[in-house]
Parts: sequence; C-alpha cells; structure tokens
Amino acid sequence: MTKIIDLRSDTVTTPTERMREAMKDAAVGDDVLYEDPTVRKLEEMGAELFGKEQGLLTVSGTMSNQVAVLSLCKKGDQIIVHDRSHMYNLEVAGLASIGGVQPRPVSALGGRYDLDELEREVFTSQIQTAPTTLICIENTFDLNRGLVIPKEHIDEVVHLAEKHNITVYMDGARVLNAAVKLNMNPAKLCEGVDALALCLSKALACPIGSLLVGSSEFIARARRMRQMLGGGWRQAGIIAAAGIVALEQMVDRLAEDHENARLLAEGLITLGLGIDSTQVQTNIIHIDLSVLGVTSVDFCSSLLEKGVKAKPVGLYEVRMITHKDFKASDIETVLDAVSMCLKESKNGPANQ
Ligand SMILES: Cc1ncc(COP(=O)(O)O)c(C=O)c1O
Repeated sequence: MTKIIDLRSDTVTTPTERMREAMKDAAVGDDVLYEDPTVRKLEEMGAELFGKEQGLLTVSGTMSNQVAVLSLCKKGDQIIVHDRSHMYNLEVAGLASIGGVQPRPVSALGGRYDLDELEREVFTSQIQTAPTTLICIENTFDLNRGLVIPKEHIDEVVHLAEKHNITVYMDGARVLNAAVKLNMNPAKLCEGVDALALCLSKALACPIGSLLVGSSEFIARARRMRQMLGGGWRQAGIIAAAGIVALEQMVDRLAEDHENARLLAEGLITLGLGIDSTQVQTNIIHIDLSVLGVTSVDFCSSLLEKGVKAKPVGLYEVRMITHKDFKASDIETVLDAVSMCLKESKNGPANQ
C-alpha cells in the first residue's frame, strides 16, 4: 500500500511506542474520587510547567474551554474573544449555549488585539449592558495559521484586563509551539494569564486529553464543571500516562515540525502557491490558491490521488500542518505531488 502523507492536522498523530508502554503500565485509581496517581502526577506536571497552582485533565481542548468559561464567568456576562478563534468559530456555539455568555468577537490582525479597540469593547454592568468579565487569547492563533502571540502582547492585554478587573484566559491548545518558537519558558510566557488550556492530543501526539491550569480555587470549580459536563472519568491514568510522556519527551521536538513547515512552505512558494512566509511561524502553513484559480476542494482531491492529504479551509484556501509523523524526507514527496496537481490543473478541460 502506498504511504499516505497526512498534513490535514497535527491531531492525526498517533501515540509513540513509549506512550503505549506507559499506558499499559500506568498505576490507576478512580479519578472522580481524586485517587488516580497518574492523573495527579500529570496535573501537577502541567501546573508546574505553566507556573500555576493546579491542573485538571480534561477530555479535549473544547471541553477545557467550556469548563474554563463555566468556571470563570456567570450567565449573561460578556467575554471578549478573537474573531478568528477556535472558541468563537468551532465549538458549536458552546460559549452561548453551555456557558450562557455573550461572546464579543474582536479582530486581532496578525495575532494582536488593537488595544484601543479592545478597551472600547470592555463593557460595564449598566441598565442595558452586560459586564465584560473575561478576555480570551488564543496562542498559537488564527484557526489555520499558527501565529505566535509574543509575551509583550500578552502582557499588554493582561495589563488592560487588570485595569478593568477582568480575568484573562488563554486557549493554549498549541501554546507549547509558541513557547518553543520563542525559546521561552512556558511559565514565563503565560505568567500574567489567570488560566489556560493546553492540548495533549495535537502536536504532542497523545491519543486524548487537554490540561487546564490555574489557581487552586479555579481548578476546584473547574473540577465540578467538568463533572457537570459528564467529563468526570475513572481510571483516566491510562490516558494521563501518555500525557506524562508527552510533557517529558515531545516538547523540544516541536522545533523539528516548525523547521519542516518552513522548508515545505519555501518549496510550495517556489511552485507558485500563495503563502505569506512571515506567517509560517510554527507548524501550520496557510495556502491561498486564488492566484492559480484552483479551488481548495479540487486541489485537495487531486493531491489525495497522489497520496497527500491537505485540508480545504475556504474556497481557495488550504491548510497543511506538519507533525511528528511527517519527516523532512517527506517534503520532496509532497512537493512532487503538488507539482503534478498544478500541471494537471493547467492541462485540465477548463484550460484547453
Ligand atoms: C486553538 C484551538 N483550541 C481548541 C481546540 C479544540 O481542541 P479539541 O479538538 O481537543 O477539542 C483546537 C482544535 O483544533 C484548537 O486548534
């Protein structure tokens, strides 16, 4: 069987042998009773990594985000989110339907909120307005781009939030990609943020899981909110064991994914694909095919015939994400496949 190179997401990564071994041997207990030693160890490791008091293992990034909002806000509050964030666009309107909050989307071109605009969007509780109680930052940012939000900007947002007595939450699904890119300790990067969530099941290659971290008070509430959502789990040490391996062994190697993304993007640019190389900052490549007049769906189906999977994310937009199951030696294969697609599209019926 020909090997398929899957660049749709880093969520397609499969657990490493070390993870599978660790899962097999994990010491477990009932985590709803707070008696699973492996889960507790992972939660402590996560809290320490980000310099927060405690951690909580949840099923997914989406669950962490929902639990965080339920724990940090009241029904009827307003919360500020990036207009192009996962929380606002891709969580089945959970902010409104589960969290009961009104999301106020604010643009953040290139990953930066305009601070004046951000401040204008902060509401106080008046006869007709609901109070803004939370500002969210996504890092890395922008659905299909993986942009790094630097510490200076996080600090600016935190400063503004403090001025208005507002909490700051980070959807840090890929925040370790940002930390590795910045060569910065994750605790330093996130020091001003009140709470954040990291995904274990993306570039870190775990099968399941997300870590929510913050103050002890926040985590105590989050634990109850997770339970309310049906996310209390029993011998979850089986899952946590993979998370421990991930934090120990899979973080530094993210630099390799970033380098592969950079090299792949360079090659794709040479082939004529529309890519803003300044935005290839971590493991995500955003491709604009409008210059070539090829739709994303046609491009991706033609690519699939050549053994490469990419994800259409707009009429002419495609995303490719590098990860631990994609090797530097695969770059050439992808470039050859893209080159063939482009030749075929030029020779296609519409162009004859
Ligand atoms: C920024 C961001 N937040 C949250 C999520 C949700 O994670 P999950 O798929 O584990 O629910 C994703 C998933 O791609 C994401 O990219």
